[in-house]
Amino acid sequence: MSVTAIVGAQWGDEGKGKIIDELAARTDFVVRYQGGGNAGHRVVHGGREFAFHLVPAGILHPNVTCVIGNGVVVDPRGLLAELAMLREMGVGLDRFFISERAHVVMPYHFVLDRLEEESRGVEKIGTVMRGIGPAYVDKYARTGIRMADLLDADQFRAKLATALAQKNRMITQIYGQSPLSLEEIHTEYFGYAQQLRRFIADTEGMLQKAVADGRSILLEGAQGALLDVDFGTYPFVTASSTVAGNASTGAGLPLRGIRQVLGIYKAYITRVGSGPMPTELFNGEGDALREAGHEYGTTTGRPRRCGWFDAVSGRFVARLNGFDSIAVMKLDVLDTLPTLKICTSYRLGETALSVPPANLNDLAACEPVYEEWPGWQTPTSGAAGWDDLPENAHRYLRRIEELLETPLALVSVGPGRGETIHLRELNV
Ligand code: IMP
Repeated sequence: MSVTAIVGAQWGDEGKGKIIDELAARTDFVVRYQGGGNAGHRVVHGGREFAFHLVPAGILHPNVTCVIGNGVVVDPRGLLAELAMLREMGVGLDRFFISERAHVVMPYHFVLDRLEEESRGVEKIGTVMRGIGPAYVDKYARTGIRMADLLDADQFRAKLATALAQKNRMITQIYGQSPLSLEEIHTEYFGYAQQLRRFIADTEGMLQKAVADGRSILLEGAQGALLDVDFGTYPFVTASSTVAGNASTGAGLPLRGIRQVLGIYKAYITRVGSGPMPTELFNGEGDALREAGHEYGTTTGRPRRCGWFDAVSGRFVARLNGFDSIAVMKLDVLDTLPTLKICTSYRLGETALSVPPANLNDLAACEPVYEEWPGWQTPTSGAAGWDDLPENAHRYLRRIEELLETPLALVSVGPGRGETIHLRELNV
């Protein structure tokens, strides 16, 4: 039995979905613990590509029970569209559950996400416009609506009336837009609740029993640690806690149940949205990485900002999450490059920094200090084991491992299932 948290270690899009999909073959449960429809993973099935945002990345395995945990914010309309896609793919949904404590992303959250972003002007965060920030604001303001509320028509109406009165004041008086209709929202969302009713359950109890029964569980993080609301590049972050510490709260499992934490890094780094990114490449090298790595957002299609591997933020994140081991993804994207760089410290004026500063202006002023490593200029995508990788790839990966002070467990050399080199047993 084992509970493993899988955490993005950069600004999201590291390839968590692929690793979860592979490890899920050996697990009983996959549980999302935070975020919402802002996340995205692509799944190739029967020669067609599908994009999922809420359903955990284990759903294509008939042995796995997939859970949307209490820490997630759920857009019922988006979720129903994903479930319809799964039915179309012939995937059974009798092993899919949503926590009754998960908060609902309501139509006014989408509206406010857009209006708030527009009002930020040049300071915009670059949110994915899925209502995530406003939904978490309501959760903590204690005006949120949870899945359990949605199932009870009267309770839902009462909570919606209170929340909507306040939101409509914001929408009309602050932003000068038209108010939303209580009746329309109530009818539409109560209708969604009827379609989702069979999936809504006491998932915390289900997972606690699974742990007691010795079942294995993967806790699936969304986004990445550099987007964490406490430890990321605040305020250019997402609205939830993305780090391993929140995996327990967001799934409803006791802390001591989590046996290992696996950190997922890309062999370089990417970011979508605004905010400082010390190793960003603005030249043709960045464009080359974007094209080679198909670095365009799954949720929005936006081009991702690309840069060299940043071991300063990488080590900060490894320590913060207490990674037991790490995966390095998309190594093959670097195959053609003659020289690679790894950022080993930041320079802020005359000062060398080994951890990212909390002050955003300081972070924005940091210059990366690089080490150069020779590329391997050989295809790695067919490599089945460590010994199949070129010597220069070994040196690059071993240096990352050393700088992150964490053992390397997995190296991904292609998008497909099986294109992953296992260096150590993960015991999931
Ligand atoms: P929000 O999560 O939509 O509020 O967006 C806040 C920031 O997080 C923006 O910079 C987004 O681009 C970024 N973000 C949100 N979800 C993801 C993700 O799944 N991958 C990468 N970036 C994300």
